[in-house]
Amino acid sequence: MTRTVYVNGEYLPETEAKVSIFDRGFLMADAVYEVTSVLDGKLIDFDGHAVRLKRSLDELEMAEPCSREELLEIHRKLVDLNGIVEGLVYLQVSRGSDGDRDFVFPAAGTPPSLVLFTQSKPGLADSPAARKGAKIISIEDIRWGRRDIKTVQLLYPSMGKMMAKKAGCDDAWMIEDGYVTEGTSNNAYFVKNGKIVTRPLSNDILHGITRKAVLRLAQEAQMEVEERLFTIDEAKSADEAFTTSASAFVMPVVEIDGATLGDGTPGPIARRLREIYIDEARKTAI
Ligand code: PDD
Repeated sequence: MTRTVYVNGEYLPETEAKVSIFDRGFLMADAVYEVTSVLDGKLIDFDGHAVRLKRSLDELEMAEPCSREELLEIHRKLVDLNGIVEGLVYLQVSRGSDGDRDFVFPAAGTPPSLVLFTQSKPGLADSPAARKGAKIISIEDIRWGRRDIKTVQLLYPSMGKMMAKKAGCDDAWMIEDGYVTEGTSNNAYFVKNGKIVTRPLSNDILHGITRKAVLRLAQEAQMEVEERLFTIDEAKSADEAFTTSASAFVMPVVEIDGATLGDGTPGPIARRLREIYIDEARKTAI
C-alpha cells in the first residue's frame, strides 16, 4: 500500500513527497526527530514527545515548525489516513535550506522542514521478540557529546546495530569511560536482587520518554530503582536486564557479550514492567 506522508504542509503519496537536496537535514544531519508509538490507533505519550521535540529545537536554536495542536492534528490524520492500528509515527524537523550548501546556518526566517510518516507494526504489543528476549553485545560509545538532543546523526548507532547482527545478536549497548551509556536506540537497565539500576540523565544519554514512564510505574509498583553509573560486568552478572524505547516498549535482555542472564529467558521484573507499561500506555493514549 502506498502510504500517505506529510511534507511541509501537504499530505502526499510517499512516491510524490519531496525535500530539497540542499536541505540541511540531508547534507549535515542538521535535524531532530521523534518516534511516537501507536496502539489501538492512538498515540502513546504524545505530550512527552512534543515537549522533548521543543527542547531539542531550543538546544539547537532551530525554529518550531508549528504548534503542539497542529502537530497532534498531523499525527492523528496520518494514523487515520494510513489505517495504523499498531505502529509508529516518525517526525523530523530540519533547519531547512536557503538554496545552497553552507556551514553557516541559513538566514533567520528560513522555514524549517517538517516531515512525518507512519510505519505499521502489527504485533508491537504482543511481540515475539519480547517473549524471546534480546541478545546484546557491548561496543565503544564514540558518538558526540550531546546525546540528550535527539538529532538524526544515527550513523554510529546504525553501525552498532550491524555489529550486533554480524555477531548473531540483536543490539548493542555502548560504553564510555568504562560505564554503559545506553543502547543504540534505547535506554539500558539491569536488575540485581530486585533492584533496577539505570544510568542517570545527563548530556550523555537520550532522556527517554519511555524511561520516564517506566521508572515512575516501577516506583508506583514498589520496585526499587537506583540511578547510577554501571559497568557492563555488573550487567553481565545481573539477574536480568532490559531496554526501553518508544519503538519496543520494555524489551527483556537475556544475553550480554555471550553471558546468559538468569535462565536465559525474559526475567520477571522486565516482563512485569512491560505488562504494566503497555497497560498504562493503552489507558492514557490519545
Ligand atoms: N530511539 N536512547 C537512544 C539513543 C534512542 O535513540 C532512543 C529512542 C531511546 C529511547 O527513547 P524513547 O523512550 O523516548 O523512545 C534512548 C527511537 C525509538 C528510534 O530512534 O527509533
